[in-house]
Amino acid sequence: MSVRMFPLAASLLCSSYVMAATDSYTYANTDDVVVKHLHLDLSVDFAEKALSGFADLQLNWLDANSTTVFLDTRDLQIERIYAKRADGSWQKVAFTLGQRDDVLGSKLTVNPKFQAQTLRIYYRSTDKASGLQWLTPEQTAGKTTPFMFSQNQAIHARSWIPIQDTPSVRLTYTARIHTSDDVLAIMSANNEPGMIRDGDYQFTMPKAIPAYLIAIAAGDLQFKAMSEQTGVYAEPYILNAAAEEFASTQAMIDATEKLYGDYRWGRYDLLMLPPSFPFGGMENPELSFITPTVVAGDRSLVSLIAHELAHSWSGNLVTNASWRDLWLNEGFTSYVENRIMEQVFGVDRAVMEQALSVQGLKEELQNLSANDSVLHIDLQGRDPDDAFSGVPYTKGQLFLMFLEQKFGRDKFDPFVRQYFDDHAFESITTADFEQYLQQNLLSKYPGIVSSDEAKTWIYGTGLPEGTPQPQSDAFNKVQQQLDSWLTGAASLDSLPTADWTVHEWLYFINNLPLSISAEQMVQLDAAFELTQSTNAEIAHAWYLLALKTGYQEIAAPLERYLINIGRRKLIIPLYKQLATTPEGLAFARAVYEKARPGYHPLSQGSVDELLK
Ligand code: BES
Ligand code: ZN
Repeated sequence: MSVRMFPLAASLLCSSYVMAATDSYTYANTDDVVVKHLHLDLSVDFAEKALSGFADLQLNWLDANSTTVFLDTRDLQIERIYAKRADGSWQKVAFTLGQRDDVLGSKLTVNPKFQAQTLRIYYRSTDKASGLQWLTPEQTAGKTTPFMFSQNQAIHARSWIPIQDTPSVRLTYTARIHTSDDVLAIMSANNEPGMIRDGDYQFTMPKAIPAYLIAIAAGDLQFKAMSEQTGVYAEPYILNAAAEEFASTQAMIDATEKLYGDYRWGRYDLLMLPPSFPFGGMENPELSFITPTVVAGDRSLVSLIAHELAHSWSGNLVTNASWRDLWLNEGFTSYVENRIMEQVFGVDRAVMEQALSVQGLKEELQNLSANDSVLHIDLQGRDPDDAFSGVPYTKGQLFLMFLEQKFGRDKFDPFVRQYFDDHAFESITTADFEQYLQQNLLSKYPGIVSSDEAKTWIYGTGLPEGTPQPQSDAFNKVQQQLDSWLTGAASLDSLPTADWTVHEWLYFINNLPLSISAEQMVQLDAAFELTQSTNAEIAHAWYLLALKTGYQEIAAPLERYLINIGRRKLIIPLYKQLATTPEGLAFARAVYEKARPGYHPLSQGSVDELLK
């Protein structure tokens, strides 16, 4: 390529350098060409645990001289590729699949020697697909119908779609999905209530989204409306309970629209996944994926819905351009989630949830490297999944709470709303945000927060001075009661536990000292039946405390818990704690042998690593 250095070319070169540096987790040559629309035509093959068919990638050429397309794949079987010319004719083209990198997968290179309008790639996924889980009928609650689902974030889209798997590129998509006719397929797109279950399904996502938000699920799914705009898809066993649990979803949408402007995606439905779903939730557009472990029967864990809904603004509308910028998605979302909870459930509950998160973060920070406590994280080539922590979430939230407190809601709320509007359907970097913050908040109201303070939050380690300290009156009371029991001033029966919410229970358990005696653990369990708790968060907190203090009575329920649930946040800390003693490790290995076949590939990967 000959480069004549006149100013325009120089500036183009410069900006393309910046673009290329944005996301190091893709092979795609996004400076030359971007995929603007994807069409999938896939069959769901439960017997082979594979998706097979073709993907049409419509291309938008940015570099007039290039004809080569690099795509991301991982463990895909590429069968054949056709390229469409400007005159509409198709030509079969050669391709090469590069060596497999453990993190990035295999680079797919296609060079038809002309600028293809569209690439049609025939392929199939394999049983190694990290982004898919396949459940046999026996592994589902109903036992009659198989189930499958995808989880693309962060870089698993490439394990079932050959694509530019980077959040810096946005595309629209359509899909036609074929299944047997006892199965309903749904996607992160326009799922119309009342879809006829006939094994042939079509979807349209007309808004440009990053590849990590493409999602599919198929199984014995039923639909139940919660309001005109919202509803639940679930296997029959949990459909009514979920619709009941999440009945406030519409109120949450209304509250968020008031604060931050229109919900721009049409419908908002929830999909209940099997308990093996490795996350609490995933914000797939129009269709959040939700763990059944939050169906507690008392709406105590619905902040998860507020969280996934909040992503419809922070994340799906304004998207982190790279995984280093994850805090732009998760920090904003944790902040918005809590504002929604305050609107819908009141300030006391919102503050309790802040306090629990902050306490969790502080504990996590004790075992995290300084490098990993930075919002604009240096991933150092690791798989983004392996650098996952509470930092982008709760430190990000605290930064925004800090700004809110400094500027006041009268100035901060309009700023956030404008931020969403000004970057709607864009992918942005931390540097873009920093500049926007400077121009639209810090400089607009000078003398309140300096750019150095903002930089310390974004690029500094740990929690800066002046970090907001949520103060919950309810928790302060629980702390006093807990202290008076520990000092012997009060008996367990005299504690007002009948009035405690799940949050107060969590605070109580999390703040019991590790020096607590075996006898006291027995007393607690006898009084409150914590080992038998059906609330997945309370059970988690109690089991963790029991393992740390050597209380043995939990063994059998813990085994059932670890076999039934695959949500990483709930099981990983338990396995980690077990692995700290030889007996614990032996127990963990025995349980894991039974649990592993039911886990998602992501959870399998994490636990394999822990127990190896
Ligand atoms: N988008 C995340 C899940 C995620 C993050 C997947 C990074 C892969 C990489 C989702 O919105 C989320 O944050 N889930 C949390 C919910 C919780 C913070 C309320 C979870 O799964 O625990
Ligand atoms: Zn999130």
